[in-house]
Parts: sequence; C-alpha cells; structure tokens
Amino acid sequence: MGVKGAFGRWSSYSLVLLCILGIYTTPAVSVKKENFKTCDQSGFCKRNRAYADTVTSTSGFKSPYTLEPASVKFDHGVLSGTVIKSLADGATVRLPLTVALFDSGVARVTLDEEKRKKGEIDLRHGSKARKERYNEAEKWAIVGGTKLSSGAAMKAVGKVATSVVYGPESKFEAIITHSPFAVEFRRDGETQIKFNDKAFMNFEHWRPKVEKPVVEKKEGEEAPPEDTTGEDESTWWDESFGGNTDSKPRGPEAVALDISFPGYEHVFGAAEHTGPLSLKETRGGDRKYSDPYRLYNSDVFEYEMDSPMTLYGSIPFVQAHKKDSTVGVLWLNAAETWIDVTKSTASANPLSLGIGAKTTTNTHWISESGLLDVFVFLGPKPQDVIGAYSELTGYTQLPQHFAIAYHQCRWNYVTDEDVMDVDRKFDKHRIPYDVIWLDIEYTHEKEYFTWDPMTFPDPLTMQKQLDGHERKLVYIIDPHIKNTDNYPVVDELKSKDLATHNKDDNIYEGWCWPGSSHWVDAFNPKAHDWWKTLFRYDKFKGTAKNSWLWNDMNEPSVFNGPETTMPKDNLHHGQWEHRDVHNLNGLTFVNATYNALLARDKEEEKHNVRPFVLTRSFYSGSQRMGAMWTGDNQAIWSHLEASIPMLLSLNIAGFPFAGADVGGFFGNPSKELLTRWYQAGAFYPFFRGHAHIDTRRREPYLAGEPYTGIITQALRLRYSLLPAWYTAFHEASTTGAPIIRPQYYVHPSDDKGFAIDDQFYVGSTGLLAKPVTVEGAESQELYLADKETYYDYFDFWAYEGPGKEKVAAPLNTIPLLMQGGHIIPRRDRPRRSSGLMKWDPFTLVVVIGHSGDAEGTLYLDDGESFDFQEGAYIHRKFAFSTAAGSLQSEDLTTAGTSTSKKVKAYLASMAQVHVEKVIIVGAPSAWQSKAKVQVSETASGSSSSATKDVPFEFVAKDGGKAAYAVVKNPGVAIGAGWKIQF
Ligand code: NOJ
Repeated sequence: MGVKGAFGRWSSYSLVLLCILGIYTTPAVSVKKENFKTCDQSGFCKRNRAYADTVTSTSGFKSPYTLEPASVKFDHGVLSGTVIKSLADGATVRLPLTVALFDSGVARVTLDEEKRKKGEIDLRHGSKARKERYNEAEKWAIVGGTKLSSGAAMKAVGKVATSVVYGPESKFEAIITHSPFAVEFRRDGETQIKFNDKAFMNFEHWRPKVEKPVVEKKEGEEAPPEDTTGEDESTWWDESFGGNTDSKPRGPEAVALDISFPGYEHVFGAAEHTGPLSLKETRGGDRKYSDPYRLYNSDVFEYEMDSPMTLYGSIPFVQAHKKDSTVGVLWLNAAETWIDVTKSTASANPLSLGIGAKTTTNTHWISESGLLDVFVFLGPKPQDVIGAYSELTGYTQLPQHFAIAYHQCRWNYVTDEDVMDVDRKFDKHRIPYDVIWLDIEYTHEKEYFTWDPMTFPDPLTMQKQLDGHERKLVYIIDPHIKNTDNYPVVDELKSKDLATHNKDDNIYEGWCWPGSSHWVDAFNPKAHDWWKTLFRYDKFKGTAKNSWLWNDMNEPSVFNGPETTMPKDNLHHGQWEHRDVHNLNGLTFVNATYNALLARDKEEEKHNVRPFVLTRSFYSGSQRMGAMWTGDNQAIWSHLEASIPMLLSLNIAGFPFAGADVGGFFGNPSKELLTRWYQAGAFYPFFRGHAHIDTRRREPYLAGEPYTGIITQALRLRYSLLPAWYTAFHEASTTGAPIIRPQYYVHPSDDKGFAIDDQFYVGSTGLLAKPVTVEGAESQELYLADKETYYDYFDFWAYEGPGKEKVAAPLNTIPLLMQGGHIIPRRDRPRRSSGLMKWDPFTLVVVIGHSGDAEGTLYLDDGESFDFQEGAYIHRKFAFSTAAGSLQSEDLTTAGTSTSKKVKAYLASMAQVHVEKVIIVGAPSAWQSKAKVQVSETASGSSSSATKDVPFEFVAKDGGKAAYAVVKNPGVAIGAGWKIQF
C-alpha cells in the first residue's frame, strides 16, 4: 500500500478516535488550558497558598514546628531528631528529621511522618495503597555523591539552635533553629539559604475523616449555616476535575516549605517551562505570573509561551545566582509540585536611599504527597552546584557520535520505500544527515514491536541501505500497549501482571493511540526484565543493529484520563499510588528501554554499544539514559524564540542533551522560518527536524533556493564542528557542565548578563552564538561580557568587548563569534553522514586572546562503544603562546598507558588521522614575512621527535577583519604529541 493507503487507514481509525476525544485534531491555535489545573483548582496547592497568606497576614504568627532538643543526635555525618508539629487542639504529630552531610559538600534534609512511616493509619475506600509517604524517589533519581562526610561535625548544641559544620575546609554550616524549626545554611559565615524563614512550612499530617452529621434542609426553612469554625476540608477527601474524581484514600498529605535565597536576585531552573531562564515572580512583583511554576508531567501539546504551566518533564532543581556566587536546591519529590517565586528588596541601610539594596528571592515549594527531602548546594561557582547535582543524579550519557549529528523525522515516513527515497534525496542534494525516524505509523495497527506488513514489508533492506552510509534508524515505542486479541505483547503483559493497576488493584485500562490500552509499569523490576526480551533481534524481527529508540507519551499520556494522564489513585509496583510517583513515570520507562537496548547488543551480540533513546517525559536522572526534546511546539516564530531559554534551562539542570522540533511540530513554517530554525537547530545539543502528520513535507531539499542552500550550510556547520560538540558532550558526561552555556555560567561576575537567555556559548570552545529568531531580521545584537576580542566565525571581523555589538545577520548568516583565547577543533570535509567522517583530518582554529594565548581541548573515541571506559580514546589539550611562539598538543588522558588490545587497536587506527590545517586568527603582524614554520612530532611511546619545515601563509588585517595565518598540512597525527614553532 502506498502513501495514500497508509494515511487513509490512519485517518479513518485514529482520527475518529481523537476527534471524539478532542485531541490532536486540526492544529488549534493554542493549548486547551481548561484541560489543566490552575493552582486554585488543585486542592493542595490552593490550601498551601492560603496557608502562606494566613501566615503573612497574621501578626506574630508562630510556625507550629519545633525540633525537640533532647532528640538530637549526631553520628557519622548524620544529624537526626524529631520535629514536633503542635495542633490547635493540643495534640502533637511526630516528624522524624535527618540532616545528612556528604563528602561532596552537599547537605540533605529529610522529614518524614512517624505515623504513616509505621503504617499506623487507615486507608479509605478499602484502598490497597501503601500507607507510608513515598520514599523511593532516590532509588530512581540518585546514583552517587552520597558518601557521608567524615569531616562533618556538630559545632554547637544549644537550647535555641544546633549547628553542624561540613564541606570543604568546613566552610559550610547548617544552623538548625529549634523553635520554630528552621534551617539556615552558611558559607564562610555568610547566610546563603534559609528554610522556613517565612514560616510557610506545612506538613499535612494523617487524620481520620470525621463524618459530620448531615443537617437536612426542611422545606420552607433556610439552609443551615456552613461550619466555618474548622479548616476548609473541601479538597481533603476527594477531588474532582474535568469529570474525573480522585478518591484520595490517604486524605490530605501535602508537604510544603519556603526556601529563601537572601541577596540573590536570580533563580534559574525548575525545568520544564516556556518562560525566561531567570524565573519570574509568581505572586506580586512587576512581571508576575498568577500561578506558581507547576511540575506535573503532562502531554501539553501546542503549549503556550511565557508560562509557568507544566510541560512534559520535571527537574525540581533550582540555582540562585548573584555576583560571584551560586547556590542551589534539589527538591526530591516525584508528586505533583508547585513552586511560587517572589522577590523582596531590602535596603542594607535605611539611610542609603536604595544604594546597597539587596534582592532576596523566596521560593515556596508545595508537593501533593511524599517526603520533604531537600538537597542543598552551597557553590560558590555555577559549576560547583551543577557538578554536585550531576554527581548525585548522574552525568549525561556520552552519546554515540551519530546521535549528536542531524536527525530527520516526521510523523510519518509512511513506507520503507519512502524512507529509502528520502535517504537518496538527501544524497542527491548533498545534504548531510545521520538518522531517519519512524513515528507510530510503521506499526501494524499501533501494536508496538510489529511492522505494518503492507507499508513496511522489508524493513531490513531499508536499514541496510541506511547502513551503507553509516546512517541509523530510530523507531518509536510508547508505553501504552494495545488492548486487543491476537497480540502476544499484551497477552504477556497481562499474564505476567506487569501493567499499572487501577485503584481497585485490577489492570488499568485507558485510551491512547491504539484505542483501549494498558500501560507497562516500569516501576516493576520484572517489567524491565520482560521489556528486555521484546527488543531482541530475534524477537522484534526486522530490526537491525543500526536501529535505535524513541519513547514518547511517557508522562504517561492517557487521552481519556484526568489532565490527559493517569488517575492519581492508580497503583504501581509496591502498591505506590500514581500520585506519589507521577513525575518519575517517564524516567522509569526510558530506563527500561535503555536497559533493554544494552542487553540487546551486549548479551545477544557481544557488542558493547551505547544505547540511544529519546524521551519526552523526564525527571532528575533521565539524562543518564539519553536525549530529550521539548515536545509539540508550533511552526511559529515565538516557539523558535522560546526554544533557546528552554534548552538553556535544561542545560543548567544537568540534562544538556536537549532539543526542540526544528521547523515546529504543528503547522507549516514559512521558508524563512524553516531556514532560521535550522540555523538555530545547528546549535541545539539534540538536533532533529520533526513535523506533525497534517503538515506538508519539509525535508531541507524541498525548500528550494536559496533556502535549501542556506539550510545545507547550517547542517555543514554542525557537521564540521562535531569534534567541538563531541568534546563538549564528553565534558558534560564527566562533570555535568552544560553543553550550551548561558552568560551567568560563563561570566558569573558580570551581573549585566545574568538575565540574558537568547545567546549562549558552546561547551568550553568560546563559540558564542545568537541564532536569529525574529522574522525579517538583518542584524543581531550580541552582548560581550568581558574585555576580550571576539571574532566573527566566518570572516574574522574583530569586535572588542565588553559591550553590545551589532552583527550583520541576513538570512544566509548565523551570528556566531569566537571569543579570543580558545582553540576550536573542526573537520571540514563535507560528508553524507558523521560516520563517514571517522578518518577525516582535522582543522584547528586558534583564536588569539588579549593575553596572547589560546587553549582548547579535543576528545575523541570510536563514537559508539563503551571501550572509552577502558582507555580507548584520545584526549588532547592544545596550547598556543604568542610569547613562546608555539602551538603544542599535550595528552590529557587519565587512563594511563593501557596495554588492552582494544585500546591499542583504537589508537593504532587513529595514527593516520592528521591535522590538515591550523588557522591562527588574530595572528601577530610580526609573522608577515614568515614563509614556513617548524613542526616537530613525538611518536607515542618515544621521547625523540622529528622536525620538519612546513609552508605558512599570512593574511594581513583588512579593515575590521583581523589578520590570520594558515599552517598548511602540518602532517601531525591528531593523537600524537607535537609542537609548531612559529
Ligand atoms: C506526540 C509527540 O510529541 C510527537 O512528536 C509525535 O509525532 C506524536 N506523538 C505521534 O507519535
């Protein structure tokens, strides 16, 4: 069946279903906001905002939480004790507290509830749910950095407060005030973070439901007055929204805390949202939102711009930044969470007329259930905070090399012929790409792990053609499994009892693409074991070694569920309510797929390759498994513009392998928009073009000139800079450093740049990009933070910082500057795919800075296996010095000289890969008359070096364009030690 037939079946079946549900029909203009709760419609959010209002408006309000001084103990880096909550009727609630101090300098404050912990509560409606507060988020999110500190010590225990010192050189201190319970974190004696300073802390303790007598209203009588003496219980026991009722068997159980950052004007993070990188105020203030930032992973397609509304993923981690100081917190709670952000400005001295005034940012965190569990990072540098956070939640996986090249996707390439045709057309037009993607239509009637026999009769031939040019296939597998007959996957899911259950503890049924479906419960380790079996080459026939995975709809998206997701009273493995684990759901599913792919290749093929998985839903820790993208955006300029702060926000949150659909998912972009989007996309860490099924085809070769040519240039730019990108990924995978970096990260002292989120640096390369995101632009203004020369990437025009510089940006230009002081590695030979560049020579671009020096690094490995963990990699540092007149390549490998066969074989295979060109930008005029330079190379394992002369060309300064020089074919190996003497 051809294109028409395949689409015909899709439209007749799924479209009818979706139209009935009002989902995914003809693109509407914007999100259906009414499908998602506001804080006012979310009982616990409303209650806690109201609590905060009561606290603020009650003079002399005293927080009812007290740490019992006699309960305080300190042992091996952990302080423990009991916090007592005093109730209005004189009763008390016991809340066990721990403050753990780690070697890494991170502190963790955890508060539980004794009664629930001991299971001494009654569940309503005969629920089979767990009674405890959910305490397994760490099992999924935390993978390291929790070695308890041996140096931490109790400094003082007084009646009023207890204090502990910890961290590097005991620079950090946590001061715990007993009554009311509050914690203050100091670095070098200065307060950085405060808990419960505003007394918003609220731990909704367990209580039985007291049935109030129903007073019948008799005819002719007035309605009885409402009982206004107690608390507002209207959302304690059950809650309805959009026709769904949540049975809430454990009653109210929210946890909330105010966390203040005194003196800090900016907070970043709390991804994923569409607003600016620097979070806005959500109550009061000038640029306020009216709702808190919400974290409740949801299928919010056609989402709105500049909004605190929830999106597909959650990273409950924020950093506060002020001049020369960054601190942060991770709120480890997987339930629905809201965060209010407010700012207050206090003058340092009442007579100073605002001089020295300091802004404090206050955040108010509110989660529906679970523990109060907060990790505290005291910096002082952005990298210290992100590094410690990444050590805890895991570093981003070093992806296979193809994964950082360009991906071509659409919903859908409809037949195997279609895929092969697109592949040939890319070649015909000499446009590079690495991966082609298959959306849900490749399946037989939305049954995952099957091919539609009519449209994909021969998937292996298709994958073979792709493999011929080192290209890959990514196909989609979602977590909903079609509920139908004669489908072994669903039969196994049911018979093995591996699906999520409903509140009555029976298999849960809902609707998604296939119609009636069940959901794999990836919280269950047995589900992971089973999932592994499905990806085996002999089980999912037609998949080849160059096929990888896309996990979508894993929030999970349930078309007929509350807020398009699962009911909160559904039950997962271990009888945890969905309410407790919702934001982790997507992570567990990608984790299962990642493990399945590892097993597929390692166990079956003895091939130790790094899996590639793309996920839509995520949580802290998902970065360990692969890439994410920002879901269903629109083909309009505002969505292109928003993609940059969105991706920056993920990059500083430990999840840098992030991208947005290039071209916009819904709607048809103008050719100008499509072109600009490719230019921006060439700077997304994850670079994929994607489009909705209703859109017109828009593969780059269809745009026509000049657009196709300009898009091809953008793609070639990405390909030529792949060595720099891969090096940045390597850095991210070992330190957590962002791949694209906002101003505050690179220039933490420059307060003028803290709120800038439309330009960014690429890794440590000094490349500063500001893609055009506005229609009709001819120029772009870049902000240069430092006293340094920045050179135009393409023509070496020199700009002097600090200050703003206007850069010409007609359609065929991407505003891209090189900051002086860096060395950028490239590969300039145009190829069809990145795999074909494996043996290509390198170009090094030396960008001389004000100091006269420049430095850069290059990381390289086989780009697919885990052999780098054994030492099969090249890691070089290039250092240029004008004073010494030399450029040197030094070894940065930490693995030492390995005798492993694999390592030797890899290094031997790279021995023939050379540097073919060195370009020195900003070359000293003294070099003008130079015709050659001296090159010496030290072969690996030898101390003597051979010296030769190689030709040298000098190009003098031309108006605003800097002088530059070129060393042609120095002939040195990329992995060797060498020196060029100028
Ligand atoms: C929703 C995803 O966000 C989109 O990218 C995909 O094309 C559709 N699901 C169909 O699978």
